[in-house]
Amino acid sequence: MTVTDILSPECMADPVPVWEALRETRPLAFHEGMNAYVISRYEDVERAFKDPAFTSDNYSWQLEPVHGRTILQMDGREHAIHRRLVTPAFRGSELTARFVPVMRRNSRELLDDFRDDGEVDLVDAFTTRYPINVIVDMLGLPKSDHALFHRWYTSIMAFLANLTQDPEVTERGLLTKDELQAYLLPRIAARVADPRDDLLSVLGTAEIDGERMSALEIKAFVSLLLVAGGETTDKALANLMLNLVRDPEQMALVRADRSLIAHALAETLRHSPPVQMIMRQPAEDVRLSGGTVPAGATVVCLIAAANRDPRRYADPDRFDVTRPDLDFAKAFTAAADHTGFALGRHFCVGAMLAKAEVEVAVNALLDAMDDIELAEPPVPQGVFTRAPGSLRLRFRPTLSG
Ligand code: HEM
Repeated sequence: MTVTDILSPECMADPVPVWEALRETRPLAFHEGMNAYVISRYEDVERAFKDPAFTSDNYSWQLEPVHGRTILQMDGREHAIHRRLVTPAFRGSELTARFVPVMRRNSRELLDDFRDDGEVDLVDAFTTRYPINVIVDMLGLPKSDHALFHRWYTSIMAFLANLTQDPEVTERGLLTKDELQAYLLPRIAARVADPRDDLLSVLGTAEIDGERMSALEIKAFVSLLLVAGGETTDKALANLMLNLVRDPEQMALVRADRSLIAHALAETLRHSPPVQMIMRQPAEDVRLSGGTVPAGATVVCLIAAANRDPRRYADPDRFDVTRPDLDFAKAFTAAADHTGFALGRHFCVGAMLAKAEVEVAVNALLDAMDDIELAEPPVPQGVFTRAPGSLRLRFRPTLSG
């Protein structure tokens, strides 16, 4: 029997056949357990992200209990102002001048611990640590608190991915909200009173049309950043390295022309996106392939399935850093055509930052590691976000010290 349940063990083991079955036979599938409609075709997922009839009110129950109210659930003028407040810190010259050196330092420090070893679990030693270290450094928070942040973001991420509403996970998430708030509020107040050269001060003093973010809004945003900028980039890096290690031809292309690292990231976001699904809630009845979704229902947009839709991408299961039907030039802008960063008004505000982080990291990894091969078959985990839980690699060290 064809499995179309996205929470089934079959889907956990290998989601590709489940996405295909959904796309081809049940493009609008009601999921009893989640009380939600699952959509999987590119044109439907694109529409859900771009059509204003689809709100992101779902975040009021999905995330607000742990973060407070964030940009993700805002609409209209409030959303536009918040985007303008935070965007400058995440792109262009601000990003390059201020934060690329932070990325280089963090990637070097992590690499130094294993560069001479000839083998590594890249997830444990690098990918789960690097993005969170970078964001904590960018915020200007102390390195000694990295473990604390790591625990908090793990618990928030579990809350977000708690599709079956496990009460223990809920409780831990709510506790994290209180702990984070107690930690951050005094530090935000200190930066507003006495700004320094860090992201927390930038957020504390940014002003658009005479409006600033309140301390609680900054707290909510920082709490969101820890998850949005941590887990996602972690899994993007792991999936990208796995895609390259598995395919020597693609690896050779990227080694020979490092500008293709950005292509490899874009193609990873299409082929094996770290965020596999995002929810929406239409404010009115909407007609999609396969039927009508009633106003107020929850819609699960299967990013990963849409990105493998053969109606949109030729030979969609193939990982190809030179793919002609993916717009690499626009892959990190709101005009992107893959759905890995969503599309439309909530398109990932950290896309350029993620690109810079991945370029710095992959360049450093490829410089330090030659002849990389898998030491054991990796096991991808998760249906909400997905990446291997460990990535054991063997390699020939190329640089020392
Ligand atoms: C490869 C890594 C990343 C992936 C795959 C990713 C994915 C996403 C996705 C799918 C959304 C849309 C959510 C929705 O519409 O419901 C989003 C939004 C967002 N992302 Fe990212 N993200 C990444 C990196 C980052 C980084 C590094 C940051 C910042 C440090 C960040 C900050 C945000 C924020 C603040 C939003 C909300 C934007 C809004 O609502 O207007 N992300 N991201």
